[in-house]
Amino acid sequence: MVTEVEKYLTDQENKQLLRFITCGSVDDGKSTLIGRLLFESHLIFEDQLSELQSTSKKIGTQGDDIDFALLVDGLSAEMEQGITIDVAYRFFSTDKRKFIVADTPGHEQYTRNMATGASTADVAILLIDARAGLLPQTCRHSHIVDMLGVKNICLAINKMDLVDYSQDVYDKIKNDYIEFSNGLNFDNINSIPISALKGDNIIELSKNMNWYKDESLVQYLENVKYNLEKKNQQFILPIQWVNRLSHNFRGFCGQVAEGNISIGDEIIVKPSNKKSTIKNILVSDNEQNSCNVGHSVTLELNDEIDISRGDIICQKEFSCDIADQFQGKILWMDEEKMVPGRPYIFKFGVAESNGSISKLRNRININTFAEENSTTLELNEIGLVNIALDRKLSMKPYIESNSLGSFIIIDKMTNNTVGMGLVNFALFRSENIQWHEMDINKELRSKSKHQKPTVLWFTGLSGSGKSTIANILEKKLFNLGKHTMLLDGDNVRHGLNKDLGFTNADRVENIRRIANVSKLMIDAGLITIVSFIAPFKAERRLARDLMPNDFLEIFIDVPLKVAEYRDPKGLYKKARSGNIKNFTGIDSPYESPENPDIHIKSDEMNPEAAAEKIIEFLKNKNII
Ligand code: ADX
Repeated sequence: MVTEVEKYLTDQENKQLLRFITCGSVDDGKSTLIGRLLFESHLIFEDQLSELQSTSKKIGTQGDDIDFALLVDGLSAEMEQGITIDVAYRFFSTDKRKFIVADTPGHEQYTRNMATGASTADVAILLIDARAGLLPQTCRHSHIVDMLGVKNICLAINKMDLVDYSQDVYDKIKNDYIEFSNGLNFDNINSIPISALKGDNIIELSKNMNWYKDESLVQYLENVKYNLEKKNQQFILPIQWVNRLSHNFRGFCGQVAEGNISIGDEIIVKPSNKKSTIKNILVSDNEQNSCNVGHSVTLELNDEIDISRGDIICQKEFSCDIADQFQGKILWMDEEKMVPGRPYIFKFGVAESNGSISKLRNRININTFAEENSTTLELNEIGLVNIALDRKLSMKPYIESNSLGSFIIIDKMTNNTVGMGLVNFALFRSENIQWHEMDINKELRSKSKHQKPTVLWFTGLSGSGKSTIANILEKKLFNLGKHTMLLDGDNVRHGLNKDLGFTNADRVENIRRIANVSKLMIDAGLITIVSFIAPFKAERRLARDLMPNDFLEIFIDVPLKVAEYRDPKGLYKKARSGNIKNFTGIDSPYESPENPDIHIKSDEMNPEAAAEKIIEFLKNKNII
């Protein structure tokens, strides 16, 4: 006999699942709307309700009425701030469908959460405050959901009670939006006038708006057509780890990103292109004949082939690009601006590589869609870029594969996610340029010079004494019979870097070039003194990463006020009076090294003593 509970569970299991996201500005009423949906679908239990009523009275904004936003906002710290942070996924169901809603914060700085929520959504509900109309934030959110491939948009024009349920107000906003969204790729734009607070047009059509005869919001959610199954998806399993449980067991573990596969099916591994067939499938320790998208699985293959973390196992016919350069669209999500040339980590699911944004082709104006020239992207800006990775990864255009066509960008220093992006297409470097191994190499050149080539990378404020100390140091090394080269910021900017100024982007390029020149000097077997402000940690790290065993960071440390007092070239004075822009320490930052190999406090010792301290260090380390 089937019990009530079992019947209920089977009913739930058989219902279609719709995932949607709600987006809007802070005060558009998102949390209230979601609270209302949960309330009306009876997912709030009695005890929660009475607690809600008392909390509403205490801190709510709705007098004695229930403040539905409180139900969703959760944590008290957030409630007091009056904004929601982080993505909250909530589940509810009606007789027809079950729903997962991603509630994402509307506050400008939290676009990153919104993008996370939108990446799995079938429908996006864009909330608009009827009193305010379209806001830049509405446009920004529309771009993001479009970038992530959401095709169904529902414009929920909220707070209709505050505009006397006026059809004119509603029509104007609706038309404005339709005109704006012409430039985007949505299949369906629906709009509904609502009041989340009063419940108008949420479940049933409201008597307050007799002029609106279409669906209520819940009816829309129950009926909207969306891609239930992404058709023709081929099997993709990115490998998270290789399980070598025993001598004769090798299991490849990961979460199926797309498609499905069965025992006996032929597979191909990317990027190696090795082939095999499926011997066994384990889903949560149970042997199965097949597995599906979303399953966490362990696969065994019939052949012994080399597969490691970050590789992908796919269906035999699968093809993708194996590339280290591509064009894509990125959304910048960090307070700190994006700088072309700066090293970041690019993470495509499991696979990742160091790399940089080699070119910002243009910035996209979110209101007009115009492609604008820019040297940087700021928080929440979208740009079309070229990206160069340090190694080849498997990738596909996002329109063909969500999992191989999307990536996140991570700051190497802070480990923060600073951006997300989509692949438009892979770019291919000419195969005609190859690396030649030469017979006379770094080892031979250094041997003939009887020295260990090393980069002595000086960093510090202008006026810290870098050039003076570097000059004395080089003389000392020269007198010891060492072969040296000195690269000095001011001097190199007279030639090789003549084209660069002092914007962040130019400074990054300045250091990128010098790091590469230093590497050539190391290959030449020279002890190379580099004396640049090099204000950013990320680029000093880039230089170190190019020659990790031959690199010493020397921090010439001086308090800003001492450097400014010294002002050997009169530049601080000019900067203070506004005659030089972006001057380090004044209106451009200097990021001090945290763990320099040598720390010289140049206001506490004279340049001669500083140079001697470095010589001693080099002797102790057997470099000279
Ligand atoms: S870096 O920041 O890109 O590493 P670099 O070491 O090449 O700077 O050049 C710094 C030198 O350029 C300073 O010593 C100073 O003489 C000169 N200079 C001119 N304008 C600026 C500026 N805005 N900020 C810092 N230095 C400047």
